[in-house]
Amino acid sequence: MSGRRRRTTWTPPLRLRRTPRWEGQTPTWRQARPAVIAGALKRAAARPSGNWYVVGSSRATLARDRPYGRTVAGVEVVLWRSQDGTLRAGPGECPHLGAPLRDSRVTCGTLRCHWHGLALDGTPFAGWEPYPVHDDGVLVWVRLDAVGGEPPLEHPVVPVRPEGAGAVDAVFTGAGRCEPEDVVANRLDPWHGSWFHPYAFVGLEVAGTPEDGGDDAFAVDVSFKVARRLVVPVRAVFTAPGPRTVVMHITDGEGAGSVVETHATPLTAPGATDPRTAVVEAVVASSDRRGFALARAAAPALRPLMRRTAGRLWRDDLAYAERRWSLRSTGRFPG
Ligand code: FES
Ligand SMILES: [Fe+2]
Repeated sequence: MSGRRRRTTWTPPLRLRRTPRWEGQTPTWRQARPAVIAGALKRAAARPSGNWYVVGSSRATLARDRPYGRTVAGVEVVLWRSQDGTLRAGPGECPHLGAPLRDSRVTCGTLRCHWHGLALDGTPFAGWEPYPVHDDGVLVWVRLDAVGGEPPLEHPVVPVRPEGAGAVDAVFTGAGRCEPEDVVANRLDPWHGSWFHPYAFVGLEVAGTPEDGGDDAFAVDVSFKVARRLVVPVRAVFTAPGPRTVVMHITDGEGAGSVVETHATPLTAPGATDPRTAVVEAVVASSDRRGFALARAAAPALRPLMRRTAGRLWRDDLAYAERRWSLRSTGRFPG
């Protein structure tokens, strides 16, 4: 193939687009019917999670000398790697006198309590019972049957992702004063995109909703803003495969095949009066462009950038989720 022909088949990832003034956009509130969002949320809540909760990024648990601790649904959880790299998990309180195991140390794959040296190898010991744990390569999940209350599943429902070797992943973690359903409801309202995040999205149009039938998805045509008038147009499809997860698949345009998974993990116990929820968002980006091989090589440098982008959006989206919770908890939610 000649260089000339190759050039003609190349499509630029970036387009120039006139950005309308913020107030000149078409309002979306008539389409964003509360009943449509509430219906999608209710169906998501009814899907099984098998009591699996996303705890954090797989990368964060890789240290061999220290454990990784989190509180999930009011339960202290500690995770660490055995000598062969297998992930272990269990209650975060030492079975002797309750020391916080997240502050202890790992030596030769054994978690050793820093108060009196009790050693845990991940098997049951003195009333300490391990939790089932799953490392999907991007995220780590733990199964808490006592708080989940659903029939347990052997593995979590992990969304389909682009091939690991050909993808760049980054995980963003934030937290807000709300319940997981408030985070999920925010993601199931695609109509707020260009209005609420004008720095990130231009010309968002919802091309399909669960009401159109099909696979309970929202399809969105939107341009991601890169700089001033430079944008990347894509089609994104949102689905909720579980009660605490919303997945956005890029199905058309630059980066088709890429996935953004939003997981809402309760930090506080169910029914807490002052609930807190973590947002763990995994971006698994892929592209068949030749330049993407370079991006993969630059992944360590790209990750903070990807996390910063997600962080900016989530500052606003957590404000949305917190507001929703505050209205719900005082009986003032209009939906
Ligand atoms: S509290 Fe852990 S060994 Fe005593
Ligand atoms: Fe948003």
